[in-house]
Amino acid sequence: MTTNVRDLRKWKTEGTKFTMLTCYDYSTARWLDRAGIPVLLVGDSLGTTMLGYPDTLSVTMDDMVRHSGAVVRGAPGALVIGDMPFMAYHASAEDAIRNAGRFLQEARVSAVKMEGGGRVIEYTKQLTAMGIPVMGHLGLTPQFVHQLGGFKVQGKTEAQAERILADAKALEEAGAFSLVLEGVPSILAGRVTSSVHIPTIGIGAGPQTDGQVLVFHDFVGLTTGKAPKFVKRYANLADDITRAAQEFADEVRKGTFPGPEHEYSANGVKPSAQEVKYGAP
Ligand code: KIV
Repeated sequence: MTTNVRDLRKWKTEGTKFTMLTCYDYSTARWLDRAGIPVLLVGDSLGTTMLGYPDTLSVTMDDMVRHSGAVVRGAPGALVIGDMPFMAYHASAEDAIRNAGRFLQEARVSAVKMEGGGRVIEYTKQLTAMGIPVMGHLGLTPQFVHQLGGFKVQGKTEAQAERILADAKALEEAGAFSLVLEGVPSILAGRVTSSVHIPTIGIGAGPQTDGQVLVFHDFVGLTTGKAPKFVKRYANLADDITRAAQEFADEVRKGTFPGPEHEYSANGVKPSAQEVKYGAP
């Protein structure tokens, strides 16, 4: 059965904690779906993790639609959410509607996510009224990196905390089905979580949210160096990949790969008996 937006609300009511992971491609989607991760977010973090940009601002709708479609095809059991990239909804409600519509029509995701409060609250109301489920995103919203003066924890002062709390309530009122809380003090995440009926999903927001999300590349150790405080690496794939590539290069140099078990025969003659000597061209 495929997870849907109502399941998340039910889990909050029951007190069942759940997970979301970011995902950007078909193969990874298959493994995460097989692991039973119920919610996959095709985050605009693909700008940094997959495309090598320093932030998310250069990601386009075409990038997002292509990757989201691949994730949908790989994860029939998961609720797949498309992240509206920078400028996909910033100029007008019309842009928000068209681009959210593209996500559902072309990529076949089941919901979209938008960052921030302000005008996004009105867009959330409009999209929801058209049958497009919306996930909100408050706190450290990476598309606001220049406004925030960097990737900094938000909601530390009482005034900021009140703003985030008010935006969370307004997004719920506007029809959002859930809310990502990123880079906020745990105590504020707890306050928001107990103040709204929709599930909250935290990243760098402590243990009191209804769900937890991590960026795929962080969670499997594909990002290297010092990880941010909120990241837990459950694997070290960067090291595994480097080691595997070095071993491959080594075996090719030594002539131990490919071995007889990797060769094809012709006319029933065993590869080892075929010994073809190639001269110079
Ligand atoms: O783009 C992204 O990966 C996100 C998550 C961090 C929530 O928005």
